[in-house]
Amino acid sequence: MVILSDKEQKMFDGEMGEATRQSMEILIALAKIYNAKRMIPVTSAQVSGVSYKTIGDAGLEYLEDLVQKGAKVEIPTFLNPAGMDIMQWKKMNVPEDFAKKQIKILDAYSKIGIMQSCTCTPYFIGIRPKKGEHIAWAESSAVAFANSVLGARTNREGGPSALAAAICGVTPEYGLHLDESRVSNFVVDVKCDLKTTADFGALGYAIGKLAKDNPPAFTGIKIATEEQLKVLGASMAASGSVALFFVKGITPEYNIASDAEKITFTESDLKTTKSKLDTGEKPQLVTLGCPHASINEIKQVAELVGKRKPTCEFWVCTARKTKETADKLGYTKTIETAGGKVVADTCMVVCPLKDMGYDITGTNSGKAAKYLQDLCKQRVVFGKLEEILYR
Ligand code: F3S
Repeated sequence: MVILSDKEQKMFDGEMGEATRQSMEILIALAKIYNAKRMIPVTSAQVSGVSYKTIGDAGLEYLEDLVQKGAKVEIPTFLNPAGMDIMQWKKMNVPEDFAKKQIKILDAYSKIGIMQSCTCTPYFIGIRPKKGEHIAWAESSAVAFANSVLGARTNREGGPSALAAAICGVTPEYGLHLDESRVSNFVVDVKCDLKTTADFGALGYAIGKLAKDNPPAFTGIKIATEEQLKVLGASMAASGSVALFFVKGITPEYNIASDAEKITFTESDLKTTKSKLDTGEKPQLVTLGCPHASINEIKQVAELVGKRKPTCEFWVCTARKTKETADKLGYTKTIETAGGKVVADTCMVVCPLKDMGYDITGTNSGKAAKYLQDLCKQRVVFGKLEEILYR
C-alpha cells in the first residue's frame, strides 16, 4: 500500500483541482503496479508525446481537457521535440494541416506552464540534474543519459506519467530511484576501438538487443565524449529498453552483480552490426543529431562541410537554444552554404518525413537507424559522417 503525505492526500481528494486529482490518480496507479511504498519529490520533469505525428487528435484532446481543468506544473518541466521546426516549417514542406495541429499542442503545453524547449538533450542546454537527484523524465535517450552519465535517478516515464509528476511534483519510489535496481548483471568487454559516433551507435544498437532492460556495464572503453555516450545510450534505449548503463572509469556509478553474465564485443561484431544497418544506397537526405546535437557536434559538421560540399541534402537537428548559439558562431551559415539546414525543435523521426518527400535517409545514430526504418518507412543509410554525406 502506498502511504501518502497530507499534501498528496489533498491532491488525490481533489482539493487542489481536478487536473491534479487526475494526475495523482495516475501516479497512485503506477505505485500500485510497481509496489512503491511512497511518493518522492522530483526536481524536474521532461515530457514526451509532443509531435502531432505521435499523439494525434486523441493526444491533443487530452491536453486541451487538462488545460480546461486548470492543470499547472509544480516543478521545472520541459518538452521533447515537436513534429516541426517552429520557424522553418513552411520552407521544409511540412503540410499545413499538420502544422496547425502541432501549434495547438504546443499552446496547450505552454498553458500548463511547460517550457517550450522541444529537445531530447536538455542536458546540452543547461538542464543537468546532479548525481542522486530524483527526476521524472520521459524521453528514453535523455533517461539513459541522466541516469548513466549524470548519475541522476529516473525511471523511463511515459508521456502521461511524466506530465502527472510535473503537475504533482512527485513520483512513486520504485525502479531506478532505488539503489538495488542500479546494479548490472550483464558485462560487455569491448575489444575494439570505437572511433566515431557511428561506432558508438552500432555498439549501442547491438548491445541494446541483448540487454533488453538490464543495465549493461562496459569495460574496455578507454575514452568517450558526452556526445558519444549520448548516442550509445540512445541506441540501447531504442533497440532494447535500456535506461541505465555503466562504463568502467567513465560513468559516475559502476555497480556489478557478483554473478553477472560476461560477453565480448569484437571488431567483427562492430563491422557486422554496421553493415546490417546500412542498405548501401545513396541517401536523399542525411539527418544528424539523434539525440539532438551539441554545439561541438554542429561545429564538427560545419568544419567538414565548409571544406567540401556534401553530395546530398542534410539536416543537423538540435535544440532551438543550441541553434541560436550556432547562428551566432557562424556554423549555421556555413552549413546552409553547403546545402544543409540546422533544424530546431524537431527531429528526423517525429517529423512527417515521408510526407515531406523522403524515402532514403542517412544517419550515424543507432536509434535513428532503427526508428527511421520502423516508424518512418525509410530505407536507411548508416555510417560515419564522411561516409554518409559524400556517398
Ligand atoms: Fe531525439 Fe528524435 Fe533521436 S527525439 S533521440 S532526435 S529520435
